[in-house]
Parts: sequence; structure tokens; C-alpha cells
Amino acid sequence: MNITLSVIKADIGSIGGHLAPSERLLASVLDHVRRHGRDLVLDSYVSHTGDDIAIVMAHTRGEGNETIHRLAWDAFVAGTAVARAQGLYGAGQDLLKDAFSGNVRGMGPAVAEMEIAERPSEPFVFFAADKTDPGAFNLPLYLAFADPMNTPGLLLSPKMARGFRFVIMDVGHADADRVIELVAPEDLYDIAALLRDPERYVVESVWSRATGEQAVAVATSRLHNIAGTYTGKDDPVMLVRVQMNFPATGEILAPFAIGHFVAGGMRGSHHVPLMPVRLGTATSWFDGPPLVSAAAFSMHHGRLTEPVDAFAHPFWDAVRARVADKAMEIRRQGFVGAAMLPMAELEYTGITEKLAALDTRFTIRRPAAPAVPAAAAAG
Ligand code: F6R
Ligand code: MG
Ligand code: MG
Repeated sequence: MNITLSVIKADIGSIGGHLAPSERLLASVLDHVRRHGRDLVLDSYVSHTGDDIAIVMAHTRGEGNETIHRLAWDAFVAGTAVARAQGLYGAGQDLLKDAFSGNVRGMGPAVAEMEIAERPSEPFVFFAADKTDPGAFNLPLYLAFADPMNTPGLLLSPKMARGFRFVIMDVGHADADRVIELVAPEDLYDIAALLRDPERYVVESVWSRATGEQAVAVATSRLHNIAGTYTGKDDPVMLVRVQMNFPATGEILAPFAIGHFVAGGMRGSHHVPLMPVRLGTATSWFDGPPLVSAAAFSMHHGRLTEPVDAFAHPFWDAVRARVADKAMEIRRQGFVGAAMLPMAELEYTGITEKLAALDTRFTIRRPAAPAVPAAAAAG
């Protein structure tokens, strides 16, 4: 049975700054999807990570389907009315266009979708991150799908040993989708060369080379490409199918124990480690730290089980403590060097304006003219 999994997420307002949506806001989105999605989707799940609300939908209408996208858009519009009524901060902030035009791509909300031939048991993990951008998933995906040091399945499972195909997007190219396809393990160094720059090159999807099945879909949108100005960090979502011909759940969770440094945190302008958190966690310290949640599901005929909160296990408490230490350590150097993002990635224009003003005050110091010797002057 072919099922499409669609995740559409947006920040449409939150309590106390950019921390978390209110219960009423979350309930209004859920209620809209329940009432209006009854005949459209087989099942759905609505959750929040930090200040972002994500709608996961299982249906049979394929990717980029207008009806499904409209359902999510209208749910966010309905939620925005609640956010406004409650005086939530940033009400409707990710709804960048006034009217829905067939597909939410390019309108503000982030989208990750894949149409799959559902396995008899279809386990998958839905990841949602806040206060960071889609490149945050580059390292975990590289490790899970291309590195046997992380994923023993690449050695032990004959199907996985055939490797995976990575589709990587150049998100610096705003006019159209610019993508490249590379295969692991043959193109490993080329994949690494691109993924080392997560602000420019982002894994969009990963596919099994043994079966041709899609394993991963990542939301790759960059809000500043759409709005042309800062409107918030992209806060990506990702779907990862697990087990059998794909990495085991533990193999895709494992890289998140690194707490790698990602772009984000305060004003979307810093390098801060990514903290794996429980479902429904609000943002906090330094408008972060950038957080990622993982809801593991099984699906049967498009019906979802309840999620297992994959980062709730006590193991992750130790990871969280270490990530908090890393975060505080890099913060000690404030705005200097590696702590703050490079100029092109700063989400606010304050520094560029300041530097432009200072530029006019720079002067070129010319070397003094050499003194003329007295004899030469006389003669
Ligand atoms: C980062 C983020 C926050 C805000 C910060 C200032 O992605 O959303 O760190 O940038 O709280 O927000 P404004 O400019 O809305 O006062
Ligand atoms: Mg957010
Ligand atoms: Mg936000």
C-alpha cells in the first residue's frame, strides 16, 4: 500500500518570547486537523518542539498535494487567530504569504514528505529541531547512513552494505532547487566535502541503493531565501524510516549523542551544540540551546501508533548535561570568533549596518615622503 507521510511545520506564535506555543494554540491546530482532515488523511499527529508546531499526516494523496498542504496551511491560519487573540509573541510569523497558492513550499512553513510502499510494519522516526537550520541534520545523516563506525549495519546487513544515495541541496541558490546526487561509499569524500558546510549544502533525502526505497526526507527551506530578510531560524523537521534495509532506530539516534555545534541559538546567529530533548520541550537558555526531539512511530495501513519519545531515556540525561557544558563553554567567548556565525549567516542586520558606517571612517595611512638629502637639494 502506498502511503505518503507529510510533515508541515510552522512557528505561528509563542509564550514568553520565542519559547513555546500555548496549549490553546496547539489545541486549535489539532482541532482544525481533526475536523477538516477527517476525510483527507488516514491519521495525523500534532506536536511542538520549542516554538514550532508540526503536523504529521499519513495519507494516500502523494507529495506536494494541494488538499493536504491547504489543510496544514488553514490549520496554521486558524492557530494564528488564536495566537493573536492570546497576544502570543510572533503570531503568524512563519506564514509569509497572505493567501494559499497550491503548495506551502515557499510560503514559510517547512515541509518534509515521502511517498512510500508501506512495509508490513513501518517504523519511522520524526525529528523536529528548533533554533537551528536544516544543515543541523547533515552530520547525523552522514554518520547513520555512510559511516560504519556509527552504523554497524553498513557492515553486517547485506542490503545496507550496498550503500545509500544522498541527494544534497545547495540552499545558497535561492532561484530554484539546485541538487546533486552522490552515492556512499564510493563518493564518500565528495559527500564529506559538501556536508562540511551545513549552511550551504544540506541533505534533502537519502535512498537505499539495494532497493531504491527512500529512507529520509528533510525540510530544506531557508526562510531568509523566501522573505529576503530575517524572520526566524528555519527550525527543520525530518522523517527517517528505520530497521530492515535502513539503519536501526538506535543507529540513527546515536549521532545525536555528540551534541555537535550547529548554527542557531540566540538571534539565529551563533554556534551552539544541538541538545536532544523530550517531546514538547520549550526553548530556554540563550534562546536555545538548539533542540531536537525524536518521536518514533510504527505505522500500519496509514494508522499511527502513539509515539515513543526516543530522547526520554535516562541515557540522554547524561548527553544533555554534557551539551549544556559545551554550550556554556563556547558562550564564554561571547561574540568573538567561532562563537558567533560568519557575517553572511548573521540573521540580523545590525552589524552590517554598523560596519558600513564604520567603513567610511577608515583612513589609509600613507608612508611619509622620504626626506630629501641636503646635497641633492643644493645641486
Ligand atoms: C532565534 C530566535 C530568537 C530571536 C530573539 C529576538 O531563531 O527566534 O533568538 O531572534 O529572541 O527576537 P525578536 O527580534 O523577535 O525580539
Ligand atoms: Mg522555532
Ligand atoms: Mg521562532
